[in-house]
Amino acid sequence: MKIEILKTSSPGADNSLFFIEKSEKQLFSEVKLLLNPKELTFLKKSLTDTKKNIITINRFDNQLFFAVIKKPALPEHLILEELRKTGNEFLCKAKKFETSTVTMISKDLNKNEIMAFIEGVVLSSYRFDKYKSDAADDKNPLKKLELFSDAIKESDILSHNLVLESVCACRDLVNEPVCFMNTQAFAKQVSSMFKNTKANVEVLNKTKIESLKMNGLLSVNKGSVDPPALIVIEWKPAKAKNKAPYVFVGKGLVYDTGGINVKTAAGMETMKCDMAGGAGVVSAMHAIVRSELPVYAVGIVPVTDNRPGGNSLVPGDIINYSDGTNVEVLNSDAEGRLILADGILYANKYKPTLLITMATLTGAAHAAIGKYGIVAMGKDSEAEFSELQESGNEVFERLVEFPFWDDYDELIKSDIADIKNIGGPVAGAITAGKFLAHFTKYPFIHLDIAGPSFNEKPDNYRGQGGSGVGVRLLFNFIQNKSKAK
Ligand code: BES
Ligand code: ZN
Ligand code: ZN
Repeated sequence: MKIEILKTSSPGADNSLFFIEKSEKQLFSEVKLLLNPKELTFLKKSLTDTKKNIITINRFDNQLFFAVIKKPALPEHLILEELRKTGNEFLCKAKKFETSTVTMISKDLNKNEIMAFIEGVVLSSYRFDKYKSDAADDKNPLKKLELFSDAIKESDILSHNLVLESVCACRDLVNEPVCFMNTQAFAKQVSSMFKNTKANVEVLNKTKIESLKMNGLLSVNKGSVDPPALIVIEWKPAKAKNKAPYVFVGKGLVYDTGGINVKTAAGMETMKCDMAGGAGVVSAMHAIVRSELPVYAVGIVPVTDNRPGGNSLVPGDIINYSDGTNVEVLNSDAEGRLILADGILYANKYKPTLLITMATLTGAAHAAIGKYGIVAMGKDSEAEFSELQESGNEVFERLVEFPFWDDYDELIKSDIADIKNIGGPVAGAITAGKFLAHFTKYPFIHLDIAGPSFNEKPDNYRGQGGSGVGVRLLFNFIQNKSKAK
């Protein structure tokens, strides 16, 4: 259910109100005439409770909510994250009291802080409930959020909403099971997302993929009954700030059974999320294109499922790539890198300013840092890496830089071919990144989102199921590029 968000110049007297400020002094100056002495005492006492962020006074036909930012001296990006979480907490309270319309009143919060709060509310309201016959229990009652603040314009709300819609579109793509979201359905859904936009979207079919000798994608696809696809989204605005594009390559594994090296039962159901990198690239492009950011950017997503089947890829096989690289396959479950290599070789044709891969690539990345961040590594991209890390802090999709020393290259040397698709027992996320780096000489950053892409249990405003990680990150990065002189 969509929440309508708009500016107001006069909070209705009978509305539910949400006061949120940075100091108690400011808060009390606003509410002293509204509350009776008992209520004022209650509020004062409650604000000292460190566990509660939002205090509620329930007047039955409406509610009054109050919040004071607990640590206003924190760095900006941490305050923003507190506000997203406050948005989540607020939505839970709205549900409890069945609040349908609320006016948020703030003098202290700046534009970014208000947007972060909205972000927390909107992303928390996302549900993937289309297969629940009766989803009424979990319905969000909040229909309208009015903002009473000088810090924000109506147009800020609208443009921010575009990005949040793309995050939710990403979650939908990830959450849809493979029986309804196979390769062709994924490609069709992406085409329809861009239908009324000025981007150029092309879906390469199997014949074209064969003619381009995308043998990694074709090999992984050998056990499947659905043909592979390669999605290319080009956004080249007339007033682009850059000549050579930023190219994003996302892993579009609509389902990863492991192939012949089939996975064990535990957790296999989450492998519908193995296209989260591809969905993230598509959805970030969606936000960039609909916001018409003046930056030349391209999104590339190789798409297939990975299954055991009649003529599946098997350990011991060798794949010959279009650049001449021979890859020895030692495990069919290390398939993401095999299809991404073709995506990267295709990306090289654009001579990118920077090439970013985003993928649910390794269990090793998940094991190393969990859901709390993105495992990242880079080659010839130091300044860009810092900027992306800065974006990661701003949107709180944080990057953890892993070493990417040349020494690791020896771990993917093959005895009978040029490289192999798995490393030794150590540094699994890095050797996967090294495999990808082999296929490009352009400035390169690899993002392994295996940890944060899918939450089996609800995780605050990031929700349950697909989190949409990477969408706000890549959007913010390109938005910063669009502001640069
Ligand atoms: N899709 C998986 C990685 C993954 C794991 C994503 C957990 C999300 C959550 C990937 O294709 C895979 O299976 N990787 C193997 C590689 C190994 C065989 C070298 C892994 O990490 O175990
Ligand atoms: Zn796998
Ligand atoms: Zn995979």
